[in-house]
Amino acid sequence: MYYPEELVEEVRAKNDIVEVISGYLKLQKKGGNHWACCPFHNEKTPSFSVSGSRQMFHCFGCGVSGNVYTFIMKYENYSFPEAVKVLADRAGVQLPETEYNEETRRRENRRARLLEVNKEAAKFFYYQLRSPRGRIGYEYLGKRQLSDETMHKFGLGYAGKNGAELVQYLRSKGFEDELIKEAGLASYSEKRGLVSQFWNRVMFPIQDSNHRVIGFGGRVMGEGEPKYLNSPETPVFDKRRNLYGLNFARTARSGNIILCEGYMDVIAMHQAGFTQAVASLGTAFTPEQANLLRRYTDNVLLAYDSDGAGVKAALRGIGILREAGLTGKVINMRPYKDPDEFMKALGKEAFEERIAQAENSFFFEVRVLESQFDMNDPEAKTRFHREIARKLCEFTEDVERDNYLQAVADKYLIGIGNLRKLVVSYASQTGLARPLERPRSGVQQRNKPEENARKSQRLLITWVTDEPSLYEKIKKYISAEDFTEELYRKVAKRLFQELEQGDYNPAGIISMFEDEEEQREAAALFHTSLPELTTGQEREKAFHDIVLAVKKNSYEYYTAKLGTDVNALNQVIEGKKALEELARTHISLD
Ligand code: CTP
Ligand code: MN
Repeated sequence: MYYPEELVEEVRAKNDIVEVISGYLKLQKKGGNHWACCPFHNEKTPSFSVSGSRQMFHCFGCGVSGNVYTFIMKYENYSFPEAVKVLADRAGVQLPETEYNEETRRRENRRARLLEVNKEAAKFFYYQLRSPRGRIGYEYLGKRQLSDETMHKFGLGYAGKNGAELVQYLRSKGFEDELIKEAGLASYSEKRGLVSQFWNRVMFPIQDSNHRVIGFGGRVMGEGEPKYLNSPETPVFDKRRNLYGLNFARTARSGNIILCEGYMDVIAMHQAGFTQAVASLGTAFTPEQANLLRRYTDNVLLAYDSDGAGVKAALRGIGILREAGLTGKVINMRPYKDPDEFMKALGKEAFEERIAQAENSFFFEVRVLESQFDMNDPEAKTRFHREIARKLCEFTEDVERDNYLQAVADKYLIGIGNLRKLVVSYASQTGLARPLERPRSGVQQRNKPEENARKSQRLLITWVTDEPSLYEKIKKYISAEDFTEELYRKVAKRLFQELEQGDYNPAGIISMFEDEEEQREAAALFHTSLPELTTGQEREKAFHDIVLAVKKNSYEYYTAKLGTDVNALNQVIEGKKALEELARTHISLD
């Protein structure tokens, strides 16, 4: 946090959201709320609402919501501290002097210092690339067909042949050696003292989703080992939790995210207009990154290299996406190696086509599998069919599994009855899935179990904030720990604390998060549409079901974590007790 929490809250409270948004949009009062056409998506009839009593906005069309900070950040494309500053000025609140603030941060905030030194290093590399000495780097990037505009957008740079210069520059800007080393920018050698880690490479600054430079990748120009050198992990550079290009992709609003393998791929894609492309950071795609993507889309297209390693990585990626409840599809880049080469050779329209033809991840997996068996050998063929059956068992939902069963049987000319038998026998041998029942309609259930669990958690929070008196009735059964999504847990924790003290403030809770997308997700917790029910009895049943669903999900979540999480056992014991009690308890809504 740049500013103390109380100050952030004071500034928020002094900026009435209706007044602030009126400065941007023409609001019309209707009922308790004010309405306008949403500035964040295209629409002709107003579904963007601003609530004076809650000090929040919400669009029923595209789902954006948040408090006054979120609005300013989204509308003006400001960072959180910038939004605080603007609104403080507006309300005449004095913020601590920036100089003084910078000084304190200097001493107190290691993370902020690391970000600063990275930013300064990025500037240094940027200017080097554009200086005579950086010519070699500039020409290299030009040869790779990057325009000046693209180089600028990604802040590309060049690390020169004199490794002492960067260090001198950073020292002159007041950064101490210790920090320069900690940022992974330089290392100490007996002979030469502190020298730059990157030497004669073109530099790719790696930014987090708020455009802050958290690390670097450096590429040799031409042949040489290692091809890419990346910053080490530091307190600000967590390779598992960030994605290259996400700072732009997050606002691309294209309905999908394209996951690539390399920095150059991302850049080539953006240059061609596919600003939804991202890549992992020199390491394999992680579950944490999948979770991150889930904030922006549930549709991920893999654009991995078409070589053996790429296919392997894609198979891994598909598994991780599936775990996270995301749909994965695979883009075929053949005959080219990667998106960068594809784009150069065939261009944008051809890639659009490939997107449209992207292969469902299950069929991709089966196709890869097929290539490992000799279909002319009946025995190998049988093993292939068995493997398909095994894969089909990974679908836990009957309807979905049966849909895939039919489709794969069609495609590979396998007798559907035989395949079903294989699945049943595989499933009953391993207990992996319940035996299939008779095929049912082809309708697929849209929501995945994880999404349902999240939905119950959102519903519960919205309902309790709508009727705060309910908190007393559920607190015996539900605690913040029951919210299995990290962000939800944070919100619940704070909300329950506030309810405990008898005064709660959703708009304030949202400003716990500095990231605009996180604010939006937090705000959505207070805006879930509650079921429209008329009779008291229906309402009570619905509420009871939601509480039960949240508890049950938490119980299952912690049961799965037994053995790896010390907290889990307590939660499981407590959860079991609460579930039993809930089953026989009536929660009255009066
Ligand atoms: N990578 C790495 N270290 C290496 C090689 C690769 O960290 N020695 C990471 C980089 O993040 C790189 C990604 O893996 O962007 C993909 O590698 P590769 O496909 O070899 O590189 P490209 O992105 O195709 O790079 P280029 O087109 O510049 O050859
Ligand atoms: Mn490449």
